[in-house]
Amino acid sequence: MEVRLKVRRYDPESGKGDYWDQYEVDVPEYATVLDSLIEVREYHDGSLGLRCSCRSAICGSCAMTVNGRARLACNTKAKDMMLMGDTIVVEPGGNLPVIKDLVVDMQPHWQKFRQVEPYLQPSGPAPEREYLVNPAAMIDLNQVMGCIQCGACVMACTSLEVDPNFIGPAALAKAYRFTGDPRDTADKHRFELYNQKGGVWDCTHCFYCVEVCPKGVAPMDQIMRIRAQMVEGGVKNSAGHRHEDTFTHSVKTSGRLNEATMVPKSLGLMNPANMAEIPGALRLAKTGKLMSAFKEGFFHRIPSAKSMRSIVNRVINGPKVVATTFPRKGERKEE
Ligand code: SF4
Ligand code: SF4
Ligand code: FES
Repeated sequence: MEVRLKVRRYDPESGKGDYWDQYEVDVPEYATVLDSLIEVREYHDGSLGLRCSCRSAICGSCAMTVNGRARLACNTKAKDMMLMGDTIVVEPGGNLPVIKDLVVDMQPHWQKFRQVEPYLQPSGPAPEREYLVNPAAMIDLNQVMGCIQCGACVMACTSLEVDPNFIGPAALAKAYRFTGDPRDTADKHRFELYNQKGGVWDCTHCFYCVEVCPKGVAPMDQIMRIRAQMVEGGVKNSAGHRHEDTFTHSVKTSGRLNEATMVPKSLGLMNPANMAEIPGALRLAKTGKLMSAFKEGFFHRIPSAKSMRSIVNRVINGPKVVATTFPRKGERKEE
C-alpha cells in the first residue's frame, strides 16, 4: 500500500523555522502511521525526529497530531487516515513546546502532574498489614489508573490552548485518582489546591480530551467528579462555582441565559477583575450576543420560563444525576 505523508518539520539548529516535507512510502495494508513514519526515517530521511517505544499503545510515547487530531501514531492505521484525504498530515502534538520535528517537550506536562500532588496522603498510623478497601471503590478508579501519560489529551485541550496555566486534563484526571481513593484523607487540602485559578473550574467542557484519549480515561468526567466532590465538601468559594450557580439561576428564573450578568456575578460585583472583561463584552455585543439583554431588558423571561423552571427543578431534585454519573466516595456503583 502506498502512503503519502505530509510531515511538519522543525529543527532548532537549522534556524529556518518550521516547514513541511512530503514522503511516499510503501507499507503493508496493516501498517500504522508510526510504521509509516519509521519507514520514512529508516529508508528515506534519517533526519526525521520522532519518539516511540512499545509500538503497542502501552508506553504513551508516540502521541502526535495526525490529520488534525491528537492520536497515538502506533494505534492509528495509516489506511484509515488515508480515507480522510489522499495524504496523511502529521504534526507534533499541540500545547507543548516542540524540541524537534514530531518530538515535543513533556516537561510542562510533568510539572502540572506534580502540581496535583499525585501520591496517596493517608492519615493515622499505617496498618500492620495493608489498607483494606472496598473493591468497588478500586474498580471505580480503574478508569483513571488506565492512563498511560501519553499527553494526547493535553495536546488537544482547548482550554490549555488559551491558558497555559490550566493544570490540564491528564493531571486533573490523576487528581481524581486520589480524591476518589478511600485511603486518601487529604480531600480538604486537595480541594483548595484544585479550586485555584488554573484548576478544575477552568475546563470548558469541550469533550475533546474524552474524544482523543486512547485509554478511555475520560479526563473531563474526572474533572466533573472532582467539582461535585468539592461542592459537596463545601468548597464553593470560586468564580467557577459561582458561574455554575449563576448559570442555573438564570435559566431557572428566566428560561434563558442572561449573558450580561454572568461575568459580574461570577467574579463578584465589586471585583476589579470585571474591568478586564470589558473588551470581551464589547466583542460579544458586536456579534449581537449581549444585545438581547439591552433590547429586551436584563430580567426578560421567555414565555415558557415556567416550563424551564420545572425542567431545571427536575434535574436538580430528581434522581441523583451527579451521583449516578460521577459517583462520589462511598457511593460507587458495583460494576
Ligand atoms: S473538556 Fe476540559 S480538560 Fe478536556 S479538553 Fe476540553 S477544556 Fe480541556
Ligand atoms: S488521560 Fe488519556 S489521553 Fe490523557 S495522558 Fe492519560 S491516556 Fe493519554
Ligand atoms: S509507541 Fe508506545 S504508545 Fe505508541
